[in-house]
Amino acid sequence: MCAALTDLLGRASLFGELEPAELETLARAAEKREFARDEVIFAAHEPADGLYVLASGRVKVCVSSSGGKELILATLGPEQFFGEMALLDNEPRSASVIAQLPTVAYRIRRDDFERLIEQHPTIARKLMRELSLRLRRSNAQMESLATLDVVGRLARYFIDLARQHGQILGNGWVAVRRPTHQDIANSIGTSRETVTRLINDLEQRGLVVNEGKMSYLRESVLSGEEG
Ligand code: CMP
Repeated sequence: MCAALTDLLGRASLFGELEPAELETLARAAEKREFARDEVIFAAHEPADGLYVLASGRVKVCVSSSGGKELILATLGPEQFFGEMALLDNEPRSASVIAQLPTVAYRIRRDDFERLIEQHPTIARKLMRELSLRLRRSNAQMESLATLDVVGRLARYFIDLARQHGQILGNGWVAVRRPTHQDIANSIGTSRETVTRLINDLEQRGLVVNEGKMSYLRESVLSGEEG
């Protein structure tokens, strides 16, 4: 099992510069966890048990109001990590993390994570870079929620989804596994019904093609022209 896991950890941006022997030590200490679609990996306000590195699948990071209304802050995919914030600030989990697809993740215990950060300044630097990137994306999401109408927010959502999780097919199209309309609605602050109606409009205009669980976007849309 260790070779595949060592490869995964080596590809994960955070641990990319560790020596093979160190990666193997880390792989031996990591615990494999498997989650079904919609399974809660952990909930906001729980105490922290470790850092997770995603091997496959996709998760959503979300917060909920007392009335049960959900806001999705981010979606994360293979080789990305989550669960670092509560380890860094010794506070409870800042958000819930829920599998959007069947997901496999490896959990690294708090003491292993802390030892790695202390021994490897490059890991600390990469962590800070990733936290900055996530803050930028959060700022962009706030800007989008505050300044764009729902059509603009949906266009921006698809562009970001394709940039972050899309597969370029090489024929002018980008493929992305489409989240449920409810999850899209919870990311852009609207209702599921509105998302369904607007996605139908995008399809009719030829900007998005939906087939089964996949959506296909024109690669040119990724350059920022929201159409
Ligand atoms: P933690 O607070 O331990 O648990 C929830 C995790 O969700 C958090 O660590 C981060 O890994 C992740 N997270 C929280 N907020 C965001 C965000 N705005 N963008 C991306 N990931 C986030």
